[in-house]
Amino acid sequence: MVGLAVMGVGRVGGEVAYLAASLGIVDSLVLYDSATQLLRAQVLDLRHTGLETTISTEISDIKKADICVFAAGLARNPSVKSRTDLLSANLPVIQEGAGVLEGFSGILITVTNPMDVNNYYLCKKTGLPRERCIGFGGQLDSARFALALRNRGITGFPFVLGEHGEHQVPLFSALSQMVPYETRDTILSELRGASMEIIRGKGGTVFGPALHIVHLIRAVTDDVKDLVSCSCVPDGEYGISGCSIGVPARIGREGVFHIEEWELDGWEQQRMDEAGEFIGDLCRKTGG
Ligand code: NAI
Repeated sequence: MVGLAVMGVGRVGGEVAYLAASLGIVDSLVLYDSATQLLRAQVLDLRHTGLETTISTEISDIKKADICVFAAGLARNPSVKSRTDLLSANLPVIQEGAGVLEGFSGILITVTNPMDVNNYYLCKKTGLPRERCIGFGGQLDSARFALALRNRGITGFPFVLGEHGEHQVPLFSALSQMVPYETRDTILSELRGASMEIIRGKGGTVFGPALHIVHLIRAVTDDVKDLVSCSCVPDGEYGISGCSIGVPARIGREGVFHIEEWELDGWEQQRMDEAGEFIGDLCRKTGG
């Protein structure tokens, strides 16, 4: 029996609840949202699927869940250019969430932006072991990287590390061919702007994040230990600590089973260092 709590059942959280239930990955749901009408509507809509998944809206049930997806808070709109611009708006939401999660001992998946900073904050404030705090975003960035490479006929293993945001680090050294620095920079700027077209066109990203989050949930429930690009709290890996940052991690029942340390080339290492400093600064500012 697997219980999933979803905090914030808007576009992403609602879709995750629906997908996880309809794919039979979870047996019970605990849904939570400050918008009570939306919460009730999501519960009813899910019940009308006829699925046998039990649904609770009791806040106190969140701490009993095996996995909690944290997707509550403000999302970007066309006038919010970067994810870090959401920091001050979402800090109160994260602070409140940390309180609700007191006593939770399952696996936390942080989605709310700026995701890396929020994952670190929630990890520190809830007292969860770092292995149990996984920030979501790297899988999505890696899928976008795969698309950018495919469009150029470049083959290889598409993986993005670093910040889920402007300081993301696509790994070109893991590809099967040399990619000139000029092309790297072009692809990086394409990746940075990848979600804005979706935000402008339909209000926000849904399918991509929801499906990847469900894959992450499955990696936990099935103890898969596959390599996933996700945000973890490193303890010196890549020379980084005091933040949460995108790294290659093996994810299983206990959360982050192992963080792999890959050799980066100069271009990648420089950007990874910058990402660590950038997120670390924000983490210190939020007092995580
Ligand atoms: P949304 O606006 O559709 O849903 C957010 C929900 O959070 C709303 O239903 C709102 O009522 C609820 N909420 C706000 N404050 C709350 C509080 N204090 N307590 C409980 N619920 C609260 O937004 P969407 O598109 O689902 O995005 C959610 C978050 O996830 C945003 O911060 C967005 O930037 C982020 N995001 C992150 C991705 C990633 O790859 N890490 C991908 C897509 C979105």
